[in-house]
Amino acid sequence: MPKYEIDDDGLPRSVVGEWALEKHERLQKYVDITRAARRKFTVHTSLRKYVGGAAYIDLFAGPGRARIRDSNRVIDGSPIVATKAALASGVPFSKVYLADADERLCDAAVRRVKAVGGTVTGYAASAEAAAQHVVAKLNPDGLHFAFLDPCNLEGLTLATIKTLSTLPRIDILLHLSVADLQRNLDRYSAAPHSPLDEVAPDWRSAVDLKQSGKALRAAYVSYWRSKTQELGFTHRGVELVTGSNKQRLYWLVFLSRSEFANDLWDKIRHISGQRQLGL
Ligand SMILES: C[S@@+](CC[C@H](N)C(=O)[O-])C[C@H]1O[C@@H](n2cnc3c(N)ncnc32)[C@H](O)[C@@H]1O
Repeated sequence: MPKYEIDDDGLPRSVVGEWALEKHERLQKYVDITRAARRKFTVHTSLRKYVGGAAYIDLFAGPGRARIRDSNRVIDGSPIVATKAALASGVPFSKVYLADADERLCDAAVRRVKAVGGTVTGYAASAEAAAQHVVAKLNPDGLHFAFLDPCNLEGLTLATIKTLSTLPRIDILLHLSVADLQRNLDRYSAAPHSPLDEVAPDWRSAVDLKQSGKALRAAYVSYWRSKTQELGFTHRGVELVTGSNKQRLYWLVFLSRSEFANDLWDKIRHISGQRQLGL
C-alpha cells in the first residue's frame, strides 16, 4: 500500500516509486492525442447540436499529488495529470468523475482538480459502486475515458469493467498488477476465496489449477482477457512497466472497441523503450 504524508497545501499526498511517472506519461499522451476525437463530442456547432460530452473517469484516484520515494520531487496524481492534459490540448473533459475508497483522498483529489480548472464530482466509495453512479449520470452518446489504477489486483473487479462497458463509446486504460500475481497467485489459488475471484469470476473452473508459477499466471491472465473480450473490447495494447531493478510491476492494458482509439494508443504506448510482454 502507498504511504501518505501531508503536502504544503495541507492535503494528503502519496509517496510512490518513480515508475508512477511512466504511467502518468502514457495517460498524459493519450489524453493529448485524443483531443480531436474529444472535440467532436464536446464542441457544439450549428450542424451538430446534440453532443454527448467526453468525461474522464478515475475510479482509484488517490489524492491527486505524490512525492517520489527517496526524493523531494513532487508530482501530480492521475486526476490532475489527465485534467491538465485535456485543458492544455484545448479540449477539456466535459466532466471529471473521481472515486477513491478513502474519503480523505477522494476529497483531496476533488479539491485539486477544481483548483486546476476541472469540473468534477467525487465519490468516496469503491470503484465498483462508483462506476454505477457515474454511468447513470453519463450521456451514452458521449465518448468517455476511464483510468483504473488500483494498488494491486484487489478492487479491479470485472463487475466494474462490465458497468463501464454498458457505455457504447468507452475506452479504458487499466493497471493490472503483475507483482501481485507473481507474489500471491499460489496462495490465492490455494485459498477458498481470494481477490482473483472478483477480477475474473469462475477462473477456478476455467483454468487448470495444477499448473504453477508462470503457466498458471499466463492461464489466469488469458482467461481474464477472454472475459473482457466478451464485453466487446480488443486487447491490442499491453505495456509492461518494470521497476528500477527490472522487476515486473504492472501491465498497463488498453481496452477499447474502437479501431481508431487502438491506433492512437499504439502511437503513444511505447515509451522508455519498454516493450516486453511477459509474466
Ligand atoms: C495506486 S493508488 C492511485 C494512484 C493514482 N491513480 C495516481 O496515479 O495518482 C490506488 C488508490 O485506490 C484506492 N483504493 C483501493 N481500493 C479501492 C477500491 N476498491 N475502490 C476505490 N478505490 C480504492 C486507494 O485508497 C488508493 O488511493
